[in-house]
Amino acid sequence: MPFKKLFLSGFRGLIILGLFFLILPANRSLASDGGHSLNLTRGKGVYERYCAGCHGVKGDGRGIYAEGLNPKPRDFTKGVFKWTGGPAGSMPSDLDLMMTISEGVNGTSMPAWRGIRESDRRYVVDYIKTFSPRFKNETPPRATFIYPPPPGTPDEIDKGKTVYEKNGCMACHGPKGRADGRSAGTLTDDWGDAILPANFSKGVFKTGKEEWKIYRSIANGLGGTPMPSFSDQLKPAEIWELVYYIQSLRD
Ligand code: HEC
Ligand code: HEC
Repeated sequence: MPFKKLFLSGFRGLIILGLFFLILPANRSLASDGGHSLNLTRGKGVYERYCAGCHGVKGDGRGIYAEGLNPKPRDFTKGVFKWTGGPAGSMPSDLDLMMTISEGVNGTSMPAWRGIRESDRRYVVDYIKTFSPRFKNETPPRATFIYPPPPGTPDEIDKGKTVYEKNGCMACHGPKGRADGRSAGTLTDDWGDAILPANFSKGVFKTGKEEWKIYRSIANGLGGTPMPSFSDQLKPAEIWELVYYIQSLRD
């Protein structure tokens, strides 16, 4: 039990625990909905004004600007999302959608929509959920627990390299994380488009560089993409080692 050792190391454990609680407040304001109620007319208005140009009036990802974009805007009618609190393939919670919409997707055309007031972002979340029946029929599972981060020592980075090499990351992401593994050119996503593995040498992560989000992508995988979930096969400590290792691959 590697974390037991960690917490037993007294003061260091306290600091690490403190770090963990620093992560939580970042999303506290989005987590409380401030008495939000449903207003689909308002949500539709916000959607058609700011989102339909890419995601399409019908939510099918075929807005007038979509053709030239890579990656393509999400087709909401399939009800498949990349960034979910639970494992890949499960439904996103309202908070998951609020985070993506508020923070955008780095390195893609999906903007961060902080300029839209928070209440309108909540209405638009309700509205995009009307495009797929999955939202009526399924509920998002409890979010994967993200274990407190260990300190990220050079030793952990080294261990991360071994975990990376032993668990098939190289086949897609390449030996040095340059998106040039042997399967890299052959991958497609559930929407039928070619997709490249993330290139870690760029140091750009789609959901931002917060470490807990990198952890989440590895633990849960990314819905609709070939990026698998590793939470069953890896221990939390190993996932953290991977997080530190792939961060170290930045040029
Ligand atoms: C300029 C084009 C563009 C506009 C405008 C835009 N998006 Fe996106 N959006 C994208 C792209 C591209 C992606 C896919 C990114 C990826 O898969 O890496 C995306 C993905 C998403 C996702 C999927 C997240 C997931 O977990 O899979 C949501 C939700 C979303 N957008 C909501 C919105 C909302 C709401 C608006 C309007 C307020 C909006 N988008 C406006 C381009 C756009
Ligand atoms: C079968 C191919 C495949 C394997 C194996 C794989 N990945 Fe991925 N991974 C991908 C693809 C494709 C993406 C890009 C998804 C996207 O951009 O939407 C990705 C994305 C990621 C991301 C998110 C990057 C970002 O921009 O936020 C991380 C982190 C990641 N992979 C880490 C790993 C690690 C660590 C392993 C091994 C334990 C691994 N991957 C194994 C295909 C793979």
